[in-house]
Amino acid sequence: TDRYCVFGHPVGHSKSPAIHAAFADQTGEAIDYTAIEAPLDDFAGAWRAFIAAGGRGANVTVPFKEEAFRLCEVLSPRALRAGAVNTLILGGNGQSNDLKVYGDTTDGVGLVRDLERHGVTLAGARLLVLGAGGAVRGVLEPLLAAAPASLVVANRTAEKAEALAADFADLGEIRGGGFDAISGPFDVVINGTSASLAGDLPPLPDDLFADGATAYDMMYGAEPTVFLQWAAERGARGVDGLGMLVEQAAESFFLWRHRRPDTDPVLEALRRAL
Ligand code: ATR
Repeated sequence: TDRYCVFGHPVGHSKSPAIHAAFADQTGEAIDYTAIEAPLDDFAGAWRAFIAAGGRGANVTVPFKEEAFRLCEVLSPRALRAGAVNTLILGGNGQSNDLKVYGDTTDGVGLVRDLERHGVTLAGARLLVLGAGGAVRGVLEPLLAAAPASLVVANRTAEKAEALAADFADLGEIRGGGFDAISGPFDVVINGTSASLAGDLPPLPDDLFADGATAYDMMYGAEPTVFLQWAAERGARGVDGLGMLVEQAAESFFLWRHRRPDTDPVLEALRRAL
């Protein structure tokens, strides 16, 4: 049985062990997947210890994604862009004598796949992304690869959004600024700020949404987030980030096991358990 885990701090509430157990059941892959709370000052040591105990790969969540990036020997192009890694793979070429540490990031693919599941067309759409932290940096490349008409990044600290837009400018039509500079309407608005965690709502104009627009919150919970409640009151369809969580997990599972699990039943079970 090959061992995998998710590293985080805290990590006790992670749904990843349940998700990967369901994927393993479904595909018949014999894997053991646990949650490990790495010490804040020694993520690299925790990873080395895990490898020594037979670990083959790991997911990485807050606050270790940048540190995981730094310890990789080989990085995927999308991880290089994101500056962060959520998937570590030991022996990325699948040969048992390859013990290099490969790093990839599957968050952005997860978001785009979940949007597809909900029938959202990104090609030609006007996109607004709220926030300019690590979560947003990790999803911009696949969003731009889907060829939207335009992508605006808006953030409380305008300079961070401007810098992010400059970093990704070679990939498509992208602009950055503060919340006060937002001028809609938009077809898809993605909340990638951590404001929902605190029950806060970024200051947004009332005429944000085009007809038939989708509001997506990377956060999720048993109840709609404040952002999704606000969006529903303005006629937008709301989608939370639970599907993104399951899709990024499926992409990691694929990187490790070269098998694609069916995400729908796993997502439905998680939703019922929220
Ligand atoms: P993450 O890994 O979740 O992206 P992060 O890198 O700390 O975490 O980024 C958090 C993001 O949420 C930032 O864009 C932050 O805005 P600032 O760059 O101005 O700090 C945004 N954010 C956090 N709390 C917020 C709030 N109450 N209102 C609006 N934006 C908020």
